[in-house]
Amino acid sequence: MGLPNDDVYKSSATKDERRATKGPKWLHKLVVAGLLIFAASRLLSLPCWSRHGSERKVGTVKWSPSSECNPGTICGSVFVPKDYFNPEAGTASVAISVYKATKLPKKGTVFLNPGGPGGSGTRLAAPEFANLIGDDWDLLGFDPRGINKTEPQVQCFDTFSDFSMFNANTVLEQGFTVASSRNLSDPEIEKQLVEQARQFLVLKKSQAQLCAKNMGDDLRYMGTANVVRDMDFMAQIFDGKDAKINYWGASYGSILGAYLVNMLPHRVGFVTIDGIADPVNWSTEPSHKWPINWLASTEKTYRFYLETCSRAGPEACPLAQYTDEPYEAIESRLETFFDSLVVTPLPVPFGSRPAYLTSGAARALLLILLQRPIRWSESAHAFAQAMNSANGTLIFDALPRPSKSSYDLVRLGVTCMDSPPPSSPKEVPTPEDLAAELMKTMREVSPHFGASVSVGEPDGGCQYWPVKGPERFAGPWNASLEWPMLIVSNTMDPITPIQSGLRINSLMPDSSRLIIQDGPGHCSPATPTLCTINLVRNYFAGILPENGTMCGTEFDYFPDSSAKLEMEMGQSGDEVQTLSAEDRKMLESARVVGEMLQDIRQGS
Ligand SMILES: *[C@@H]1O[C@H](CO)[C@@H](O)[C@H](O)[C@H]1NC(C)=O
Ligand SMILES: *[C@@H]1O[C@H](CO)[C@@H](O)[C@H](O)[C@H]1NC(C)=O
Ligand SMILES: *[C@@H]1O[C@H](CO)[C@@H](O)[C@H](O)[C@H]1NC(C)=O
Ligand SMILES: *[C@@H]1O[C@H](CO)[C@@H](O)[C@H](O)[C@H]1NC(C)=O
Ligand SMILES: *[C@@H]1O[C@H](CO)[C@@H](O)[C@H](O)[C@H]1NC(C)=O
Ligand SMILES: *[C@@H]1O[C@H](CO)[C@@H](O)[C@H](O)[C@H]1NC(C)=O
Repeated sequence: MGLPNDDVYKSSATKDERRATKGPKWLHKLVVAGLLIFAASRLLSLPCWSRHGSERKVGTVKWSPSSECNPGTICGSVFVPKDYFNPEAGTASVAISVYKATKLPKKGTVFLNPGGPGGSGTRLAAPEFANLIGDDWDLLGFDPRGINKTEPQVQCFDTFSDFSMFNANTVLEQGFTVASSRNLSDPEIEKQLVEQARQFLVLKKSQAQLCAKNMGDDLRYMGTANVVRDMDFMAQIFDGKDAKINYWGASYGSILGAYLVNMLPHRVGFVTIDGIADPVNWSTEPSHKWPINWLASTEKTYRFYLETCSRAGPEACPLAQYTDEPYEAIESRLETFFDSLVVTPLPVPFGSRPAYLTSGAARALLLILLQRPIRWSESAHAFAQAMNSANGTLIFDALPRPSKSSYDLVRLGVTCMDSPPPSSPKEVPTPEDLAAELMKTMREVSPHFGASVSVGEPDGGCQYWPVKGPERFAGPWNASLEWPMLIVSNTMDPITPIQSGLRINSLMPDSSRLIIQDGPGHCSPATPTLCTINLVRNYFAGILPENGTMCGTEFDYFPDSSAKLEMEMGQSGDEVQTLSAEDRKMLESARVVGEMLQDIRQGS
């Protein structure tokens, strides 16, 4: 309990103006007051919160007993203004977890975001992450607005069971079912999507009304712009008044990073974003128009999956009937399976919950697993079991499932503050509009997964959202930075395509460097490679890569059973055995971080 033994933590309180940020004027007084309290309590060696009446003072930090923190970290809450433009709004608290630099002198603090939006960041403050960023940084994982232990928390549903029952066996859980992706000119397909969109929209409307009643005004403070201001505020507490904000974010974390560098360019130090979503699209299009942008590399990734499976052969990848079978044959069997589920869903009596498997849910799972090459082998076994023995259990159980500790509408809390509200009633999307957008996405971008995004990325219904936030950032996106931002994109990322990384890079040609990992998966740690790991680590050590640097990948996507045995015994193939202990440690750290990111995104 109490304060960390943090001689490396600076928190100098001065009377200087807080010139650096464009934030509201009254704020610097609060920061200074908060820092004074923080500093005074440290001088007295008292935990901040033990000072009578200061528990919720803006700028204070309340540290938790170490038994409540993840191993090796210090954790607690930072009290921040709930609304940076209105001091009357009171206080919010941001849950943090810090893995401290093990090499001194430390350079500063790096804020971490795992994506979602809705992902809890406190888990990321871990030694594996320090291996990827550098030992001389404090790593600060935090729960962004509305999320996990940060308060106020998004909690629209009274109980987990209300939430589960609300979703169960609806289009929200089962995804959109496409009658057949083989002939999209069949008018029946769009007709059926309109019916499903009707259900989708009425459920979204219910959600919004529930949030309005149970959350009230608190719903206004969840947006990404607020989180940027929180990072600014916390950087000043932990690193000092003029300290720069350093940041690493993946997936939605790339949106937060793009907002950060463009809202507060003069405040920014080292920033890396990985797995890029397009912030222009995000902030200027309603959420039902996002997937067409996200799926630009999906079909390419799917084809790579099928081809790799075919090369691996039926023993390692049971979706293939023989080694080097044409990939189209495997694809065609999967389509036959999806089409059969349209007519006859599979019973799942003995799954994590008794239920049934629809075509929409099965396609959605394949899209989710394309993001995780480490699980491709497992995915092939799950689909093969379903196709060969009419048993959908493995697929159903692999779908993202809310847990008691994370179940609410956190993601909407963020996206509905970020996306533009409809400017007129004519812009409110109808069921026909939603179905038309799904059709367009299948026709123009991804015939197999164009309608399959909503299960993994549950957006929508912001047109019913009852509130607007205090601040909505929508560019410009062409900030100039002292030190360029690092952008990492994979060539086959099925949900955040490289075109989005290229877009940010082209908007900030002198203030960003793009590195390209030539391989599949969502975000670079999905397929760990030393080349990317070293470039990112060097970046945080002050060495900029050439723009456009390409990193190849080598990965055993469908290990045969002898390789699997080796992996269980702590070895994995010949190449790895020739690596130095240090390189192995790096690869293993990237693997752990990659899995952690995916688990957090999927709420497990
Ligand atoms: C696709 O469906 C349309 C409309 O039902 C039909 O006219 C067309 O012949 C079909 N095309 C193929 C290749 O089956
Ligand atoms: C959003 O993305 C889609 C698909 O890439 C594109 O057609 C549209 O113009 C984009 N909108 C903005 C504002 O970037
Ligand atoms: C289906 O597969 C699951 C998991 O492999 C197994 O537990 C179950 O017994 C199988 N059969 C049925 C009818 O669910
Ligand atoms: C909330 O934060 C705690 C502490 O870091 C963590 O153990 C837990 O997994 C988080 N919950 C979710 C749903 O991420
Ligand atoms: C950045 O973009 C804005 C809006 O598109 C434009 O007005 C401004 O001139 C641009 N600034 C630079 C430095 O290019
Ligand atoms: C950075 O490199 C990529 C890949 O080579 C290239 O497409 C892009 O135009 C480059 N960006 C700049 C600003 O030169």
